[in-house]
Amino acid sequence: MALKAVRGTKDIYGIDSEKFREIVNKAVEIFNNYNYEQIITPIFEETSLFQRGIGEGTDIVDKEMYTFIDKGKRSITLRPEGTASVVRAFLEHKMYGEKKLKRFFYYGPMFRYERPQTGRYREFNQVGVEAIGSYSPVLDAEIIAMGYDFLKKIGINDIEVQINSVGCPVCRKIYRDKLKSFLETKYDNLCEDCKIRYEKNPLRVLDCKVESCKKETAEAPIIIDYLDKDCKEHFEEVKKYLDIFKVPYKINPRLVRGLDYYTNTVFEIVTNKLGAQGTVLAGGRYNNLINEMGSKDVPSVGFAAGIERLMMLVDKEADEIEKGVYLAWIGENVKEYAFFISKILRENGIKVIIDFEEKSMKANMKKASKSKVTHAVIIGEDEKKTKNMILKDLETGEQELYDLENIIIKLK
Ligand code: HAM
Repeated sequence: MALKAVRGTKDIYGIDSEKFREIVNKAVEIFNNYNYEQIITPIFEETSLFQRGIGEGTDIVDKEMYTFIDKGKRSITLRPEGTASVVRAFLEHKMYGEKKLKRFFYYGPMFRYERPQTGRYREFNQVGVEAIGSYSPVLDAEIIAMGYDFLKKIGINDIEVQINSVGCPVCRKIYRDKLKSFLETKYDNLCEDCKIRYEKNPLRVLDCKVESCKKETAEAPIIIDYLDKDCKEHFEEVKKYLDIFKVPYKINPRLVRGLDYYTNTVFEIVTNKLGAQGTVLAGGRYNNLINEMGSKDVPSVGFAAGIERLMMLVDKEADEIEKGVYLAWIGENVKEYAFFISKILRENGIKVIIDFEEKSMKANMKKASKSKVTHAVIIGEDEKKTKNMILKDLETGEQELYDLENIIIKLK
């Protein structure tokens, strides 16, 4: 039987790998403008990190983790997301002693055993940020603005920023009780998943995509009406700074997010172009996660964006011309010399395409014009003797003779 990639995973190659790289490069450039530094954490961690961090009762922990026992009989999990690992690293290396606010970015593969569909994979890649150590609502707004800025810069325009507040544990408990009393009256009409959510995590019922559940909960109480004074003020400040940063947003009172660690601000940036998997970037504030992990409260905010989803929205022409040369060598006698020249050009930062097999001038030029680079360099017997080479502009067809030193200056 032919070997195939595992269900829910995919190979990224050709134009897609270029899109992938451009997305990551742009993210790094923008995160750097906001003073974020890179952190690289392991792809697998102890299972208990995610159980404690993301929370029992969430879909990720209950159903979606790739967990296995290693040869040392430890329970190990392939990371389903990046936040818990970054926080673990922050605590382990006592980074709280260094500076009040640490800002990190990361990118890499994440793993969730979900039902694969367009825009949803079992191995997928995220770019994300975590800012650890500030209660300021300006940070929430700044991070949302940064995510919005990033999506705009990679050319994704049809997007909507949705925000909500899920309050602090105190006001959320009051709201949760209210919501439960409301849901009790609708219980029999909820889907089977929501019946379980009702017991374990009732806020998640508001997030259910089943039409009948949406209808039943249309009149459900909303959390913003139950925020205490501090949480309300925090939310008002976030909105004020979003206005200052010129980020258009919509309040979505049903936005609750699927991970347990959030407090106060939650947000998602969505598009209607990807069907059911329309959330391209999502995150929020998590003031108690570090506390859950056994340390003091360290207030934090972050987000992550799915790179595969972004790739589906980014346009890229398949045949964009790149700066570089096709090096055509004519005659077996000049082969060694031509390969030597290719090395020198590459050493000087010039992209070189060169064939191993001898070709006629005509065949070489045909290949050059298909090679998506700006120039051809032609070396025959005469050029080898005189230590010159012909530089041909592949767009205009103009040709000129250069020596090695000057061709490097010209091409750079
Ligand atoms: P999340 O909402 O679980 O949040 O994932 C963030 C983004 O990752 C989603 O909006 C989506 O674009 C992408 N994503 C998630 N699952 C899949 C999948 N199966 N296939 C393809 N893309 C997917 C988090 O992961 C949080 N750690 C975000 C965060 C950071 N909150 C605070 N800091």
